[in-house]
Parts: sequence; structure tokens; C-alpha cells
Amino acid sequence: MYILLMGPPGAGKGTQAERLIEKYGIPQISTGDMFRAAVKNGTPLGLEAKKHMDNGTLVPDEVTIGIVRERLAQPDARDGFILDGFPRTTAQAVALDAILRELNITLDGIINIAVPNEELVRRTSGRLICRTCGATYHKAFNPPQKAGVCDKDGGELYQRDDDQEAVVKERLAVYGQQTKPLIDYYKNNGHYVEIDGLQDMEDVFKDIVTALEKKDGQ
Ligand code: AP5
Ligand code: MG
Repeated sequence: MYILLMGPPGAGKGTQAERLIEKYGIPQISTGDMFRAAVKNGTPLGLEAKKHMDNGTLVPDEVTIGIVRERLAQPDARDGFILDGFPRTTAQAVALDAILRELNITLDGIINIAVPNEELVRRTSGRLICRTCGATYHKAFNPPQKAGVCDKDGGELYQRDDDQEAVVKERLAVYGQQTKPLIDYYKNNGHYVEIDGLQDMEDVFKDIVTALEKKDGQ
């Protein structure tokens, strides 16, 4: 299953990717997670990415396309993947089309999780992430059993630097200018589906699976 997950910051792409990994046994390819790992490791890519992420702006296309091209060529992505947070610009979408053509892959689902801005601010401001396994929680909507501790592996929960209100506002503005136009790029593709992301997490997941399996002809 080859899945592209789209949606604004805080829409629930990562949350749904966690469930899709489990259901289909395919890897999540999140450019945001790849950049955060590079920042943590202090690599040249991380230093470059951090400048943009801290301001809520996008990492340049040539850098981002390069890491996705490399990642999609890895053996574990051959039989399926969940692309999360890529593409985010028209140039990235055009590059992705070319990469998929080279790999002879057709997307099974282009899933756009739609959520209004007020809710996105609530979701990002309450988000908590496990420092070791990356699992995502929310202080109110999906709290861990024990405050500050991951249910899955006992890791410490933290808030992302770019979830501060001022940075979230900039990320939403950048989404509106550079990424939202991709809906027009994909909406005539027969595999494009918009999902109501305001529903609770389980219902969003059910709608995604229904859309994927319908498109898959099952
Ligand atoms: P990235 O990490 O991709 O961030 P994003 O797209 O802004 O999306 P988020 O990860 O914030 O949200 P999400 O949709 O995954 O929501 P989540 O599931 O966590 O990118 C970060 C930065 O990296 C960018 O700003 C940019 O600088 C750079 N970057 C990344 N990709 C790039 C690219 N392609 N090109 C250039 N630069 C790039 O959920 C959010 C919260 O809501 C959680 O607390 C969760 O528990 C809760 N929640 C989820 N679903 C529900 C629900 N249904 N009901 C209630 N609460 C919910
Ligand atoms: Mg995410």
C-alpha cells in the first residue's frame, strides 16, 4: 500500500500514520521526523533544517527532495510506505511524480486530513511526544496514563520547539501559501480523498482505511 498523507500542521498525520504502520506493516516516511532526527544528531542537514523549522518556514526544496529520493530507494519502502508531510510545495509534488515513475510505483491513496485552524492551534499547543519512540499524545485529547511518561516504553514526553504559538501561526500561514495549493494539484487524481479530521482519532482512521480499501478494489 502506497499512501500519501496530507493536511495542515496538527491535522493528525503522525497520529494516523502510527495506526497505518500497525495495520499495513509499512514504514512511515515523515520529512519532519527525519529533520528532527538530524537536528538531534547535530548533522549538517540538521543545522540547515533547524534554521527553518524554528521559524516555522520550509526547508529548501532541493534539500528535502534529496532526502526523500534517498529514503524511497531503501528496500523497506519497496512494498509500501506512508509519506507524511511531503510533498509540501508544487516543486516537491512534481519531483515526487518523477521519483515514483522511476520506481514504477502508483499511489493507492492521497489522503487529505481537513481540520480548521482554531482546532489546529488547540492540537499543536497540547501535543506531547515521546523522546525515545516518537509516540504522540495530547494533554487533553489523548493523555498518557501517567503524566509526562510514554505508555509504550516509559520514555519522557516533551513539547516540540515549533509548537509555541507564534511559530504555529507562521506554520499555518506557510501551509496556506505553499502547501494548500497542492489540493488543486491532486484533487482530480482518482486516488485523492478528503477526510473530516475533526472526528475523533478512531473515526478518522476508519474513514482512511475505508477510502484506501475502496481505492484498492477490495
Ligand atoms: P512536520 O513535523 O511535518 O510538521 P507539520 O506538518 O506541521 O505537522 P505536525 O507534525 O505538526 O502535525 P500532524 O499532522 O503530524 O499532527 P499529529 O498527529 O502530531 O514538519 C515540521 C517542520 O519541518 C516544518 O515546519 C518544516 O520546517 C520542516 N519540513 C517538514 N517537511 C517538510 C517538507 N516536505 N518541505 C520543507 N520543509 C519541511 O497531531 C497533533 C496533535 O493533535 C497531537 O497532540 C495529537 O494527539 C492530536 N490529535 C491528532 N488527531 C486528533 C483527533 N482526531 N482529535 C483530537 N486530537 C487529535
Ligand atoms: Mg507530524
